[in-house]
Amino acid sequence: ARGASLTDFAEKIGVDAAALVQMLFSLGEMVTATESVNDETLELLGEELNYVVEVVSPEDEDRELLESFDLEFGEDEGDESDLAIRPPVVTVMGHVDHGKTKLLDALRKANVVAKEAGGITQHIGAYQVAAEVDGDERRITFIDTPGHEAFTAMRARGAQATDIAILVVAADDGVMPQTVEALNHAKAANVPIVVAVNKIDKPEADPTKVRGQLTEYGLVPEEYGGDAMFVDVSAKSELNLDKLLEAVVLTADASLDLRANPHQDAQGLVVEAHLDRGRGPVATVLVQRGTLRVGDSIVAGPAHGRVRAMLDEHGDNIEAADPSRPAMVLGLNAAPSAGQNFIVVEDDRMARQIAEKREARERAAMQAKRRVRRSLEDFMAS
Ligand code: GTP
Ligand code: MG
Repeated sequence: ARGASLTDFAEKIGVDAAALVQMLFSLGEMVTATESVNDETLELLGEELNYVVEVVSPEDEDRELLESFDLEFGEDEGDESDLAIRPPVVTVMGHVDHGKTKLLDALRKANVVAKEAGGITQHIGAYQVAAEVDGDERRITFIDTPGHEAFTAMRARGAQATDIAILVVAADDGVMPQTVEALNHAKAANVPIVVAVNKIDKPEADPTKVRGQLTEYGLVPEEYGGDAMFVDVSAKSELNLDKLLEAVVLTADASLDLRANPHQDAQGLVVEAHLDRGRGPVATVLVQRGTLRVGDSIVAGPAHGRVRAMLDEHGDNIEAADPSRPAMVLGLNAAPSAGQNFIVVEDDRMARQIAEKREARERAAMQAKRRVRRSLEDFMAS
């Protein structure tokens, strides 16, 4: 919580910021809700609320936990010669209903070089296409994100897992709140942005207006002398999809060094997970480094298990998934949350031990929050 405002802190522990202001006031501390609070103030609050304020971040704590098992998340093992080129991971973001999912469906339909016959296509929110760009076959991984305002955290994490962001803006609606939010997440994560100005088939579409609006947010189109690529598209009429793919590939080639070591135990992120009635917990994961294989022992957030089977975006069984490849994983004991990491470990026992420690910590954090809420309620009532 270091450097966080009282509002951030209140949100983290699930209480009303105004109540914290009032409590601090009664303790002789004048702090406004937006002011950042120092450790002493947090400790003061902690004493009053019978709660030990932890200044360690959950991320640091998890790093330590993994270290105690001789594991590390986020680094390629080996040296330069182990690295192999991997496809770019492209996250599609934008305001609700601006056409993200439809655009992804259209891209998949138009450019799947691999066979699509038979088998029902699964919608897993992440898939790889083999697109033909300038005569070359190029693989690109796409991740869909929801535009609904409730999914801020998912968009923030999506931006972090990604190499390139496609910002979808409906040309009949223009720049909207989640357009700006997505833009800010991508900027914060230092991710290059390609703008897809969508729905240009609509008579009321005004792609020039979208360019003007985004220019005000510092995203200046190339044709105006800036460095952002804008492509006018229609997901519905399947217009200019090849141009959009080309812009993505150009961006990847121009500014990114996309390599990972496929010859190590796999690590990556959970894109989505749910409980399937027939199959149990099903998690869509994105492999970031290493190769994930059927039979691997994995821990994903507070869930663990052995990979029983893996499916690709067509619902076909696959034996292995290399860097940048999304896969549906069966065999976990629970559904982890989107954005949590997964890591392959030595054996089932280690996976279970790590998962149990994480689960215990999540539970303790929840109990602490509840305790604080109760103390605060008592204080307000007294
Ligand atoms: P959320 O996931 O809810 O944030 O929405 P989304 O951005 O994924 O939008 P979605 O793809 O679900 O499309 C929303 C609506 O816009 C649907 O009714 C689509 O059919 C329509 N739509 C998407 N693209 C186009 C387009 O290019 N032209 C027209 N006319 N309609 C489109
Ligand atoms: Mg959608």
